[in-house]
Amino acid sequence: MLIMYNSSMITKSLRDIELLKENSLKELNEIKSLDALDAWRLQYLGRSGSLTQLLRSVSELPVEQRKTVGSAANAVKVALEDQLHMHREAIEFDSLAKDGQDFVDISLPGRNGLLGRYHPSTLVIREISAIFANMGFQIIDGPEVEWDRYNFEMLNIPQDHPARDMFDTFWLDINRQDDGAFTTLLRTHTSPMQARVMESNDPPVRVIIPGKCYRYEATDATHESQFHQIEGLAVDKGITFANLKHTLFEFARQMFGADTKVRFRCDYFPFVEPGVDMSIEWKGKWLEILGAGMVHPNVLRAVGYDPSIYSGFAFGMGPERIAMLKYGINDIRHFLQNDIRFLRQF
Ligand code: PHE
Repeated sequence: MLIMYNSSMITKSLRDIELLKENSLKELNEIKSLDALDAWRLQYLGRSGSLTQLLRSVSELPVEQRKTVGSAANAVKVALEDQLHMHREAIEFDSLAKDGQDFVDISLPGRNGLLGRYHPSTLVIREISAIFANMGFQIIDGPEVEWDRYNFEMLNIPQDHPARDMFDTFWLDINRQDDGAFTTLLRTHTSPMQARVMESNDPPVRVIIPGKCYRYEATDATHESQFHQIEGLAVDKGITFANLKHTLFEFARQMFGADTKVRFRCDYFPFVEPGVDMSIEWKGKWLEILGAGMVHPNVLRAVGYDPSIYSGFAFGMGPERIAMLKYGINDIRHFLQNDIRFLRQF
């Protein structure tokens, strides 16, 4: 008798659960708005919703019935939650489509991920390096922390030479001599690589050396204490000033356009003789873009090359200056300020 009664109670509970499922899903199918959907959720799955109450009442059932009824009610709960989720997506999809935005419009252009880009200095350094690489120059790099020996001494700029004033130097407080004299610095130009390359290679050499340089000076629109240079060096038997002119003229034509005019004027750098600077005609004005010259015999001797057999030319230019011309940048300080609005333009 008791068992009969119990089993009929189970049957009734299970039928209630089944009925609840049927009715609630039928109602759900009619729902067209997110508000109505929320009301439905509260009605069945909310804290005092009917399914929640039904689940709570399971604990009042005799022990042997709890498992069957409880798991049936839980299965319905999972089913209702699944349907609720899918129905919500369907309503959201519909409202997007009504807004005139087809959810999947395969004719729309794809969305690009955020891409990084090259710094303007890098772009110009690569462009310049590629031009010289195509002429047979090898691209190498060298240390930014440099000995006085390479930055000055071997470049025909001994201690106390007035030309040291051309370079306001950041000296480093390491490797000081017994008398306190500095020996180590942040290179003030890329020319020390001339000495390094020749010292460890027999001629012929033909190299391009891009890299960072540092000068201890007040910053303004045309001066930064950190900047790049690109050094060039070609040494062999029979290299003349004509080779220098041709190489740099060809560079200017490729970099700035086929009918670019160039102008060479005398200039002084202790490590070349004769020394020149080269300007290009740019928007009606002559603008100096590099220093150059024939490698000084003292420099050749310092690296163990015989100046009666070998000769060469060298040049050095500032890619930031060239980038400023090319892109119309009016202040060199932009290069290191990392302002995304500036960097995005390249
Ligand atoms: N190093 C020189 C400078 O910094 C440029 C230069 C390089 C000049 C090579 C002549 C030859 O101004």
